[in-house]
Amino acid sequence: MTLGEVLAGATEYLANRGVESARLDAERLLARALGLSRIELYTQHDRPLTEAEREAARELVQRRGAREPLAYVLGDWDFRRLTLRTDARALVPRPETEIVVERCLELIRGIDCPRVLDVGTGSGAIALALAHEHPGARVVATDASEAALELAQENAREHALNVTFVRADLLDGVDGTFDLVVSNPPYVDAGELAALEPEVRDWEPRSALVDEGQTGRLVADASRVLDGWLVLEVHEAHARTTAAQIEAAGYSDVGVGLDLAGKERLVEARWQPTS
Ligand SMILES: C[S@@+](CC[C@H](N)C(=O)[O-])C[C@H]1O[C@@H](n2cnc3c(N)ncnc32)[C@H](O)[C@@H]1O
Repeated sequence: MTLGEVLAGATEYLANRGVESARLDAERLLARALGLSRIELYTQHDRPLTEAEREAARELVQRRGAREPLAYVLGDWDFRRLTLRTDARALVPRPETEIVVERCLELIRGIDCPRVLDVGTGSGAIALALAHEHPGARVVATDASEAALELAQENAREHALNVTFVRADLLDGVDGTFDLVVSNPPYVDAGELAALEPEVRDWEPRSALVDEGQTGRLVADASRVLDGWLVLEVHEAHARTTAAQIEAAGYSDVGVGLDLAGKERLVEARWQPTS
């Protein structure tokens, strides 16, 4: 079988299993299995594949056909300017979270060595992107999941980025004062889980998805360590209520930001200690 025939077969296989971007995913999986760029898939379209090459491609395509997230099958995923290792230990970093990082960078731009706390760091995406794009930043990141922290530490080592990782329930036990506390806490309502795509529902860690009151607790506790900005990624349906909650807690400069799709996904506010 030629590469082109295997690509066509893989596309059909994935489409039949409900994968939305079947052609694109098949291209990325074949390219990875064969060690080629996507362009080379086309320049080598008529080349017959060896049995070993077909087996390597089959393994990846079957995993994706079981609706495992593309990022887990590939084992890495681009986030901002970094390529992060991705697997079932943590949530796949999302494009909307890149906007959160963008906003954080704007808020700390004027500070040479901002003290930053990322709560619920998962793969380390937010903490590592901030450390990478603001080299003066001193970044601490927490997660309740030991497995997620392991992955985040692997990513930090891979990119030689200096972030302090702490296992903690939100920011329990975290002391000090931060110019920025940022978090993308779990924000799916438990009742919504069943309706989500299998990639999310069946593969990503439930503890990274389901809201168990983390946002409310964060708002209440972050002011203890803040002299600056709180930035939260939120469920689009909860942005206004979260903003109101933050305002009621005594924060100033409360604002709601949009993601690339125009959905209200970000809430920010400022806390200035009185003494
Ligand atoms: C939505 S994921 C975000 C991961 C990463 N920050 C990102 O944006 O891709 C939420 C993360 O919060 C962590 N988490 C959930 N509850 C927590 C808690 N009570 N304390 C600390 N981390 C928690 C989960 O383990 C998960 O890694």
